[in-house]
Amino acid sequence: MRHFISVRDLTREDIDTVLDRAEAIHRHAYDPCALSGRILGLLFFEPSTRTRMSFESAIGRLGGGSIGVDSIEGSSMAKGESLADTVRVVSGYVDAIVLRHPKEGAARLASEFATVPVINAGDGAGQHPSQTMLDLYTIRQSMPLEKIHVGILGDLRYGRTTHSLVHALSLYDVTLSAIAPRTLELPQNTREELRERGVEVNSYEDVSEVIRDLDVLYVTRIQRERFPDAASYMNVAHSYRVTPELLTGVRKNLIILHPLPRAGEIDPRVDALPYAKYFEQARNGVPVRMALLLEVMR
Ligand code: NCD
Repeated sequence: MRHFISVRDLTREDIDTVLDRAEAIHRHAYDPCALSGRILGLLFFEPSTRTRMSFESAIGRLGGGSIGVDSIEGSSMAKGESLADTVRVVSGYVDAIVLRHPKEGAARLASEFATVPVINAGDGAGQHPSQTMLDLYTIRQSMPLEKIHVGILGDLRYGRTTHSLVHALSLYDVTLSAIAPRTLELPQNTREELRERGVEVNSYEDVSEVIRDLDVLYVTRIQRERFPDAASYMNVAHSYRVTPELLTGVRKNLIILHPLPRAGEIDPRVDALPYAKYFEQARNGVPVRMALLLEVMR
């Protein structure tokens, strides 16, 4: 059984297989009945629009169905049921579980109790590996995943999409720059893990220092809900914003990505510029998650 918990568990070959399959799906080269009669369980204990809906769309397009809960309050966890019991029980109803949970490590724990594959759709400030697959897919639509310079801007401390993405990019021949306010820097242990893999990450506090050298700018929202108190959030709120003015003199081939939702860190005037790829990126969630479901559920 194949769980999908952390990018740390994946090889470059695993990733490329999913991306290649997603590309074929994009060209409509897939069997719309491939997962007919299969049911995907969606356990979303944190808000979600894109991740949940694109997984539902993905299973539907492959002929399967989905059932789920979308809050702790709406499930028996509100009565005190443990996550372990919940996934044990739900394993009897579905063929795979997609889990989003506010606690880091929740998906790993769930995979130890589930009797069907578990896909991590975000565990607190931990990982969000299916997002990374569509991030890489979107980069690959514009340029090869080698000899490029990727800048990751924003909340690198709590942003799970950035944690998964840097691990994945460390498997490719790319230059990585981390751009964040001091208190939101990439966690030390992540940096060390990357260093062990031979990858040094450049650090910047101000995106204008490096923007002209980038091929990819990956922007993220400050993860307000993960801050211990309002004051520490207020210290960094609105500390960066991508505007058309900031983008003067950038490389012609630059692409700007964002996992979305955005909360002010990209000026809407950027949407009309050729660099903006974030809505296309969100659309790519469907073929990429179809590829992933085929990998995990077949
Ligand atoms: C991200 C998440 O949930 O981590 N959203 C998503 O899945 N596209 C990013 C975020 O919430 O900032």
